[in-house]
Amino acid sequence: MDASALDDDKDESSPGLPSRRRTDTSDSVRVLKPRRAAPADAVRPTRAEVNLAALRHNLRVIARHAGRAKVWPVLKADGYGHGAPAVARTLERAGAEGFCVALLEEAVELRDAGVRAPILVMGGYYGGAYEEIVGRGVVPVIYDGSHLEGLARASRQAGHPVDAHLKIDTGMARLGVRMRDLESFAAELARFPEVRISGLMTHLACAEAAAGSEGSGFTAEQVALFEEATTRLARAGVSPQVRHVANSAAVLRGEALFDAVRPGIAIFGVSPLASGGALELRPVMRVRSEIVDLRTIEAGESVGYGALFRATRPTRIATLPMGYADGLSRHLSNCGHVLVRGVRAPLVGAVSMDMSMIDVTDVPGVGLHDEVTVLGSQEGLSSRDGRDALSAEEIASQAGTIAWEVLTSVSRRVPRFYREP
Ligand SMILES: Cc1ncc(COP(=O)(O)O)c(C=O)c1O
Repeated sequence: MDASALDDDKDESSPGLPSRRRTDTSDSVRVLKPRRAAPADAVRPTRAEVNLAALRHNLRVIARHAGRAKVWPVLKADGYGHGAPAVARTLERAGAEGFCVALLEEAVELRDAGVRAPILVMGGYYGGAYEEIVGRGVVPVIYDGSHLEGLARASRQAGHPVDAHLKIDTGMARLGVRMRDLESFAAELARFPEVRISGLMTHLACAEAAAGSEGSGFTAEQVALFEEATTRLARAGVSPQVRHVANSAAVLRGEALFDAVRPGIAIFGVSPLASGGALELRPVMRVRSEIVDLRTIEAGESVGYGALFRATRPTRIATLPMGYADGLSRHLSNCGHVLVRGVRAPLVGAVSMDMSMIDVTDVPGVGLHDEVTVLGSQEGLSSRDGRDALSAEEIASQAGTIAWEVLTSVSRRVPRFYREP
């Protein structure tokens, strides 16, 4: 059993918590922390380096764009793959006033890591664990009657009212009270005085769209519906103190700022705006590995599963111990690149589960154990070497996906190392 698994077992009897052994009653659901490889488990040289100074820098850039709105970084999916506990602790010390996550499990992980700032759980699925929500002092996002009943019950047990944020669906058709149901929801809410709606939110579908495009008109429509929802709810007796709408793209455009903003991807140094609207952002994650095998194949010989690559000249093939199970997309087979000695080397053949092969024929001086950069920048070892960078956006476009998926795909078996450069 690895060290992180032991940590999780220990968690069952965390001090200050009621016993969370599973029983048949719905109000004692056990919420487990997600598991990930720890640096101490690292044997192979594939790892993600997280630059904490870049994280703080991005928070400052975003706070400037947010003006008077509070900044609540979104740290779902393990802090977009960067390791939510370390990211949250760093951002909290740097002045972040709250955090957003998708899952209750993620909120519990942050509380266990000592994070004291308000944590908003946006995902809406609580699986009956309302006692845990109240006990952990986290703020749930609600939008249906079953949430109200569960929260009110937990609030009565705790002996104090609970705060929740109400989500409105203004166009995502994902979660949230629909515009036509606002008044009936307010009437239902009135039956549960234990639940206080302290925040009102919605989520934008097209915030990345360029100004003047059809998508940007959609954002304006969503914001108008949100304003209408605010007015109608106030008339029905629901007047939350804080309203929040903006994701990274909206914040960087200065749109829909309201009282708080919820930036995710920009905190990690990726601008969601095609125009590169925030060139000041700094990438936070760098993923590196090493060459563990180096061989020369002859013209006509093939590489990897399915023999997808066939050499047309004597070719130096290097193997790196990173594959699709680590987050190196299989869609990069025969088309992606990595950096060796500061220059690009193409991925050749199919990316396999734990390993990938690259063509290093044109990398001068290449050797066994040379560092391979899969994401981020690399400087060569000597003045003869190059200097280049692979951004999450570039990798995403090669793999036919988005930067969000590139970052969150770096899997839990890749240990994260935190740096203060
Ligand atoms: C409800 C909500 N708010 C904010 C965000 C942050 O979005 P982004 O990463 O584009 O800033 C997300 C992420 O998808 C989200 O689901």
